Amino acid sequence: MAEANWHILAAASLLVRRHRWLPVAATLTSGLAVTIAVAAHLGRSVALAATAVLVVTSYVWGYSTRAFKQTRWPSLDHLHRRQYAEVWDALTPSAKQATEAASGVQGEGELRRSAMKSLHDLLELVSIGAQDEVLEIGCGVGRVGLVLAPLCRLWTGADISANMLAYASRRLRDVNNVRLVKLHRVGLEDFTDSSFHVVYTTDMFEHLDEMDRWRYVEEAFRVLRSGGRIYIDSIDLESDAGWASFVNDGKKYQGFARTPYVLRPSTAAELMAYVKRAGFTQVQSHRRPPLIVVTAVKPA
Ligand SMILES: C[S@@+](CC[C@H](N)C(=O)[O-])C[C@H]1O[C@@H](n2cnc3c(N)ncnc32)[C@H](O)[C@@H]1O
Repeated sequence: MAEANWHILAAASLLVRRHRWLPVAATLTSGLAVTIAVAAHLGRSVALAATAVLVVTSYVWGYSTRAFKQTRWPSLDHLHRRQYAEVWDALTPSAKQATEAASGVQGEGELRRSAMKSLHDLLELVSIGAQDEVLEIGCGVGRVGLVLAPLCRLWTGADISANMLAYASRRLRDVNNVRLVKLHRVGLEDFTDSSFHVVYTTDMFEHLDEMDRWRYVEEAFRVLRSGGRIYIDSIDLESDAGWASFVNDGKKYQGFARTPYVLRPSTAAELMAYVKRAGFTQVQSHRRPPLIVVTAVKPA
């Protein structure tokens, strides 16, 4: 039954997307029908039925107007998930879309608010200090970098998308202790061994293939100093929100090619396995729904 409802809703949504004029035309027509029913004294039940249709069509009109304002992401079916640079450059033709692709929010105000939340988690879980050199893998538009850089010695943002880095460079132009690095493949080859006190990645792992997640953890171990801290997060499959997102995406892309950027949530066990296998100690997981965060320390 739920499956049938979902198919009806999907078909209705497709129809309205293809013919955007439909909700407007239906609302005007039902409005006219109500007027005629009342003016021509067609009877109470006809007027009530016309009014009910008017209410429904007005709701659909309002709902679809809001939905169309949201960015419609390209399907990018021709790209493979691991063509990360192509995928993320294609998603970010403008600064506005880059902001939304990076964090799911719109506008600088919301971006800063969401950055404060991430900053709070980072400070609480890996305690960043004024002498620390910090690396973010997959830094996007520098959402976190802008608020974190003033608290550490050097903040380095690395990303595989040239577009993201171009917007990050604009946002961070007034901050002098930041460095942006374009990654050309999965890995941290641009960085020497033992060069950072903290390496973190946020809102990134759910976009990666599992083996590339492992590759970044392995590389983070190499570029961290002894005693250095790692912080990684991903959508938590075991949280209610993470599970809902997984199930919804499964339905959405059932029978169609999956977009290369569809979220692939993680579990604490998965992330902890990478971190332990890389050689980290003091491995801990922290639930921050919808995220799971794993932190650890590179031993001396
Ligand atoms: C959802 S955004 C998050 C950006 C940023 N971490 C934040 O929280 O605002 C994901 C970022 O990861 C980057 N990215 C995707 N695949 C990557 C890869 N294989 N290596 C490095 N960065 C990648 C994207 O270009 C994008 O900037």
